[in-house]
Amino acid sequence: MLGLLVAISAVACFESSYADAVSITTVTVPNRGGWVLVWPRPGDPNWVNRAEIGCEYTISSAPATPPTITWLRGTFADKQVIYKWSSSGEVYVHPDFAGRVSVESRTHPTLILVNQGGWGRYWCRVTNEEQPGEFGTDEESRLFWYGSGYDLPGRLSWLNLDKTPVHVEVGGTVRLNCNGTSGSTASILWVKGPSCIQGGGCDSYETVIHKSAQYGTSNTEPEITISPNYTGRVSLDTQYYTVNDYTYLEFTPTLTITDIRPSDAGRYWCSPAHTELYSYLGTLNRDAQSVVVIVNDPGTEPTCAGKPDGMYQHPADCAQFYTCSGGLSYGTNTCPAGLVFNQELQLCDWANNVICL
Ligand SMILES: *[C@@H]1O[C@H](CO)[C@@H](O)[C@H](O)[C@H]1NC(C)=O
Ligand SMILES: *[C@@H]1O[C@H](CO)[C@@H](O)[C@H](O)[C@H]1NC(C)=O
Repeated sequence: MLGLLVAISAVACFESSYADAVSITTVTVPNRGGWVLVWPRPGDPNWVNRAEIGCEYTISSAPATPPTITWLRGTFADKQVIYKWSSSGEVYVHPDFAGRVSVESRTHPTLILVNQGGWGRYWCRVTNEEQPGEFGTDEESRLFWYGSGYDLPGRLSWLNLDKTPVHVEVGGTVRLNCNGTSGSTASILWVKGPSCIQGGGCDSYETVIHKSAQYGTSNTEPEITISPNYTGRVSLDTQYYTVNDYTYLEFTPTLTITDIRPSDAGRYWCSPAHTELYSYLGTLNRDAQSVVVIVNDPGTEPTCAGKPDGMYQHPADCAQFYTCSGGLSYGTNTCPAGLVFNQELQLCDWANNVICL
């Protein structure tokens, strides 16, 4: 009888506080393929230097606390926080942007720029603090230009990634469809993350594959770097085309990953860029978009089919737990050293508080 009561209360605990344990954040910056332009009109006393960059987002299984909204400026690989509206309500503005950036709505976090000059790439990042790391953080960017128009930079990095979450079984293959900047000297980067580091922030990324060729050396083989975690399992589409008897190599950033493992679950960022064009613009030329991969393991890994949303102790190792949401697995995690997973309390706990199921 006592055992039954414990079982019932554990289930009730799942349903009340861990319903929809995993949620996915998806950010959309409308018209991200085009510039936000500001044209100065020196003779017009009514002219104001003001621009808006829109941002929309969805969080599947809305969290109880509002997400953190962050706007950044720079390249995908190197950007600076200019504005941050934390989950707690606190607002930070970088001193260089004081009085020149604002956000009026947390549900539609459009960035309002006043008295800005020059150009830059601006990123809208949305972080669900209840689901930190790969599933809970997404961002997209758009370019801003201030000037007379004719000096607008021409062909810049662009991409279009299919952001529909991909479901795959262990051992299967995923194809992450990304179209973008190509050419014999393109630099294509796929990274996974961000993952959270112990005692630190959630800002650690893994380079899955980087394929690049330098300007002036387009006849040589491109350099390819692959993470040891993906050796022999990843490939990029490569196409050839012929113009006036010359054959050109074209990189298409679409990524294929074979022999999927549970640890492959997460968020993948496609980031192609020209290396030969507009090098004077520096790395601001690099855009990125992300897609989530969800791995379901019907074989050796425990299945989530039919299980209520929540985290479950791993049957093979009680220091590990796996997360289920909507009947699908969101991967396996390991507790910090010395701790084991307490399924009833849904946390990593001291071993003497936990029965390995
Ligand atoms: C990429 O380009 C191909 C061919 O033009 C098209 O069929 C596909 O829908 C595009 N994918 C994305 C994500 O834009
Ligand atoms: C490989 O994956 C493991 C587990 O996901 C991770 O801890 C490690 O940092 C990854 N390796 C690299 C080079 O990022």
